[in-house]
Amino acid sequence: MKKNELIINLEEKKATLKKGGGEKAIEKQHARGKLTARERIELLVDPGTFQEFDLFVKTRSTYFGLDKKSIPADGVVTGTGYVNGRRIALFAQDFTVIGGSLGEMYALKTTKMQDLAMKLGIPIIGMNDSGGARIQEGIDSLYGYGEIFRRNVKTSGVIPQITIMMGPTAGGAVYSPAIMDFIIMTEKATTYITGPEVVKAVTGEQVGHEELGGGLVHNTKSGVAHFLAKDDKDAIETLKKLLSFLPDNYLQEPEIVDTGDPVEREELDLRNIVPIDPSKSYDVRDVINKVVDNGDFLEVQSLFAKNVVVGFARIGGRAVGIVANQAEYMAGVLDINASDKIARFVRFCDAFNIPFVTFVDTPGFLPGTDQEHRGIIRHGAKVLYAFSEATVPKVTVIMRKAFGGAYIAMCARHLGADMVFAYPQAEIAVMGAAGAANIIFRKEIKNAENPEAVRQEKIKEYKDQFANPFKAAERGYVDDIIDPKDTRIVVAKALEFLRTKSEEPVQKKHGNIPL
Ligand code: HXC
Repeated sequence: MKKNELIINLEEKKATLKKGGGEKAIEKQHARGKLTARERIELLVDPGTFQEFDLFVKTRSTYFGLDKKSIPADGVVTGTGYVNGRRIALFAQDFTVIGGSLGEMYALKTTKMQDLAMKLGIPIIGMNDSGGARIQEGIDSLYGYGEIFRRNVKTSGVIPQITIMMGPTAGGAVYSPAIMDFIIMTEKATTYITGPEVVKAVTGEQVGHEELGGGLVHNTKSGVAHFLAKDDKDAIETLKKLLSFLPDNYLQEPEIVDTGDPVEREELDLRNIVPIDPSKSYDVRDVINKVVDNGDFLEVQSLFAKNVVVGFARIGGRAVGIVANQAEYMAGVLDINASDKIARFVRFCDAFNIPFVTFVDTPGFLPGTDQEHRGIIRHGAKVLYAFSEATVPKVTVIMRKAFGGAYIAMCARHLGADMVFAYPQAEIAVMGAAGAANIIFRKEIKNAENPEAVRQEKIKEYKDQFANPFKAAERGYVDDIIDPKDTRIVVAKALEFLRTKSEEPVQKKHGNIPL
């Protein structure tokens, strides 16, 4: 049957609106090395699954000639689709349309997706590329941001919320991603509260866009972003991988996948990777890669606070969160940034029923005025809080150093670890033997004829007593001391066994995590 005029008219209308800002603007977008909102959606969702919402929405604002301007779809493409067969809701900011800036109706389109995702219990994905509040619309855009933020908070811990930044995310646009669970940033993306011009006007400081808030800055320095991507395509691939580890909502568990990697796999290399000599370094990712299925590990915040490593993997097909001290970087010490990184990751895993495995090898919290004055106590407390609060299965492997507060903080039995294993070279003590001997035998060392010889003797004495896992095992703080080659087998068995763990959180309005 022939198309009638109504259908022809509809198709034309849709085609025009779908061109966004038009050919020239699209060319400009491509010249900046960016894809358009619709091209990004096409890359993200399974073919033919995108259902667009609100293509015909228009701004109601008439200020500063907005009523005369063409603003297709009001600058944001919203809808639902499937990613590798799983449902998601999304909004993709269209920079070709008035800089992807947010006005009242644009915000309503966004909150409609947030509400829908919440009702259905499915992840919400934001693709950011926006100059922030639509300046011409004035306070209506502020109202819009407020409504989005409130939903980000309401949704937090209910469904995964993930942002991919692929262009500017300026001004009011920054806080929605910041409340969400993960931010993936391309190298060229920028995010800042105020751009270089405002910075110059207010402080006199001269700084470029990327230097102020580029992908690299937020992945290495501020810790705002969780993944750095080469370009739009790479960012979307990262998102797909991340989603594969997550359930759709807090009432579900992540999918169990047949990874083809047997759990009964011994790894003789693990006997050598973690050196017996506590002063020797190694890359903890070599341990993680040997333990998880097929060595497939998605590291989160790999460029920030490198003294700890966190990320997602599978063991026996089950999604797990991995938390580990990184001996290779600052000897795996816990500092402010590492504490923030661990605490936020652990709370995410707990909220979404992802058990975690903690690999411990840390000399302690980082001492010094810099850390103390910036609040290592307040930040370190987050780690204790997050591990204690978590009700998912918690498995801890003490590989080498586990001293003092950091021993407790790294998910010790005392914070509720369900199963704790230690390597034979583990040292579980109040502090390192050298430091301990210097304090408790200070007088004897000082008054000795040969102070150095006595010092070494006392260090040995302390080491023999405490620098091993047996004292902790005698008390039941460690459940078993294992051959490192069996780590995968032991951890996989533990996770399998703990799968029915159920621990009701204490009834309260909410806790008060130190922030
Ligand atoms: C309206 C905007 C806009 C905005 C960009 N445009 N940002 N229109 N409101 N916030 C328009 C531009 O006028 C231009 O229109 C088109 O989008 C493309 O922008 P360009 O500047 O040509 O692109 P580019 O050179 O790539 O620079 C991108 C940019 C820059 C860095 C994002 O546009 C910029 O600095 N924009 C303002 C950013 C900002 O200060 N936002 C804060 C808003 S206040 P034409 O017609 O020329 O193509 C805010 C506070 C809210 O957000 C607080 C809530 C809590």
